Amino acid sequence: MSPLLPLERLPDGTFAEVEAVIDGDAESLILYRDGDHVRAWLNICPHAGRRLDWAPGQFLKSKEGLLVCAAHGASFELRGGECVAGPCRGEALRSVTVSVRDGAVWLEGSA
Ligand code: FES
Repeated sequence: MSPLLPLERLPDGTFAEVEAVIDGDAESLILYRDGDHVRAWLNICPHAGRRLDWAPGQFLKSKEGLLVCAAHGASFELRGGECVAGPCRGEALRSVTVSVRDGAVWLEGSA
């Protein structure tokens, strides 16, 4: 199994988009680095099912530190992936379990 991404390609506080096979399906994932930790979610907005990036791997982060969906502006906090403002408020991104080891991000399975 190969890593999703070398950690050096994910500076602290930034996002990356990677492809992974989850439950037999190829999925786009959002990775977000917070210090030594990396969180991951499916790159599917709970509002209308669009990708959240405006171009591959280009995600919007508000000055409040929220991930903002490029389609209609739903805003997600970056711990649980909960939508805190916008059209799908109260819903959440689907988290994917990843871990950091050997200087890289690895998929651990889907939640
Ligand atoms: S699809 Fe994300 S806000 Fe509408």
